[in-house]
Amino acid sequence: MSPDPRAVPADVPRERGREHAGDLAGLFVSFEGGDGVGKSTQVSLLGHHLAALGREVVVTREPGGTPLGLELRQAILHGEDLDPRTEALLYAADRAHHVATLVRPALERGAVVLTDRYLDSSVAYQGTGRGLGADEVERLSLWAARGLLPHVTVLLDLDPAVGLARLTGDPDRLESAGADFHRRTREAFLARAAQDPGRWLVLDAAQPAEVVAAQVRERLAPFLAGAA
Ligand code: TYD
Repeated sequence: MSPDPRAVPADVPRERGREHAGDLAGLFVSFEGGDGVGKSTQVSLLGHHLAALGREVVVTREPGGTPLGLELRQAILHGEDLDPRTEALLYAADRAHHVATLVRPALERGAVVLTDRYLDSSVAYQGTGRGLGADEVERLSLWAARGLLPHVTVLLDLDPAVGLARLTGDPDRLESAGADFHRRTREAFLARAAQDPGRWLVLDAAQPAEVVAAQVRERLAPFLAGAA
C-alpha cells in the first residue's frame, strides 16, 4: 500500500499554527505558479473529472473567490498604487474571508475544493517578489487562514517569459512587475515545494494540458479511492 499522502513527512516539522486539511472531511487542492502557466485550465479539467466521479466540487480562486474578494481583487490588481505591506494585507484579508466563508465550510461538508492560487502565492509574490520576507508573509497568511493548508498543492512550473507571453489583454499590476520579479517568484515557488514534498506536486507546465491533467489525477487518486 502506498503511504498516506496526507501525512506530513517525518522530516518536516509540524509548525505551530499549521493544519493540513487532512483533519477535515473534504479534499483541498491548490494550484500555484506564475502568470500564464495554465492554472485555470487545469482547475477546470480536474473539476470536470471529479464531478464525473460524483464528487461535490467547489472551484474557486484567490483573490476574488467571494463577493468581498471581488472588490479586493479589483483594488489590488487595478486600483491605485499600493505599498507592499498594504498589498500583502489585502491578499491576506481576501484569504481570511475566503477560508472562513467558503473553503472551510465546503471542506467540513466533504466537498472537494479546487482553488486557483492560495497562500503560497503570497509567500512567493509578496514575501520574495516584493521582498517582505517569506517567513513573515507565511505567518500572516497562516494567521489569516487559521492555519489551513491544502492536502495537495500543484505547482505548474514554467519559464516566466513563456507564461507572460501567453497572456492576452492589458497586464495588471502584478503582471507588470518586471522580469526579475517574476524570476524570483518562480524560484521561491520551487524552493518552497522542495521543502515540503508531501504537500507539493511540481509539474512541467510546458507539457500539453492533457498530459499535465493526467499527472494531477494520478497524484490525487489515493485521496479519491474509496471516497464519495
Ligand atoms: P490570478 O487570478 O492568477 O491572475 P489572472 O487570473 O489575472 O491571470 O492572480 C492575480 C495576481 O495576483 C497574480 O499576478 C498573482 C497575484 N497574487 C499575489 O501576488 N499574491 C497572492 O496572495 C495571490 C493569491 C495572487
